[in-house]
Amino acid sequence: MELPFPLVADPDPASIEAGRLLFAQQTDFLKGVVAMSGLPPADRIEVCFAGRSNVGKSSLINALTGRKGLARASNTPGRTQEINFFTLADSHYLVDLPGYGYANAPVAVVEKWQRLLKQYLSGRQTLRRAFVLIDMRHGIKPVDNEILSLLDGAAVTFQVVLTKADKVKQSDREATLAQVRKALSTHPAAFPEIVMTSSEKGDGIATLRSIIATMG
Ligand code: GTP
Ligand code: MG
Repeated sequence: MELPFPLVADPDPASIEAGRLLFAQQTDFLKGVVAMSGLPPADRIEVCFAGRSNVGKSSLINALTGRKGLARASNTPGRTQEINFFTLADSHYLVDLPGYGYANAPVAVVEKWQRLLKQYLSGRQTLRRAFVLIDMRHGIKPVDNEILSLLDGAAVTFQVVLTKADKVKQSDREATLAQVRKALSTHPAAFPEIVMTSSEKGDGIATLRSIIATMG
């Protein structure tokens, strides 16, 4: 029997081309949102990038769009503190979320963005898919499970994107994959395929572009 939650197969050439074409179009920073009332009109396909602080959300958006400085990436965990909306062509929003699970900031501040993050993930009607990033070196942690359960409850389909694959030896990848598969089997909102990426080396980027472009 095939394992549940396989790594996504390489897309066919037409899907790869669709991804390339979509992401060759204009991308722009639209706005940083600090309250639900500030969300832009829900008038296009929206995908967001969620994950623990420092997992590589902003770097992934930069890799997808091919624009290094578009989303602010940093060695300082907790860099992204607003919900940042980027427009892709005139059809898509890419949404860079503040990280969760970050303890080293004033409690009141952290609580404010965590509350907003949860409101957004469970209350955004046009959110088509949440990509939940998991560091390939660490696997799924309790704080990730909490977010995955929130997405289950809100019936938002989420897809796991493993990040920083370049930091993990081929021989160590199976252990993380097994841990992730086991955790996902308890989450009904999990999309059945996992994407493995490296924003640094470019692995999985064309695949992720094609997933976003063919979501329809
Ligand atoms: P917050 O906004 O603080 O929640 O972080 P984030 O999830 O947006 O992470 P960010 O993109 O800022 O990346 C954090 C650190 O990880 C940076 O130093 C990146 O250069 C590094 N990083 C991100 N992706 C990769 C990757 O694929 N490989 C390697 N080696 N490093 C990466
Ligand atoms: Mg960030």
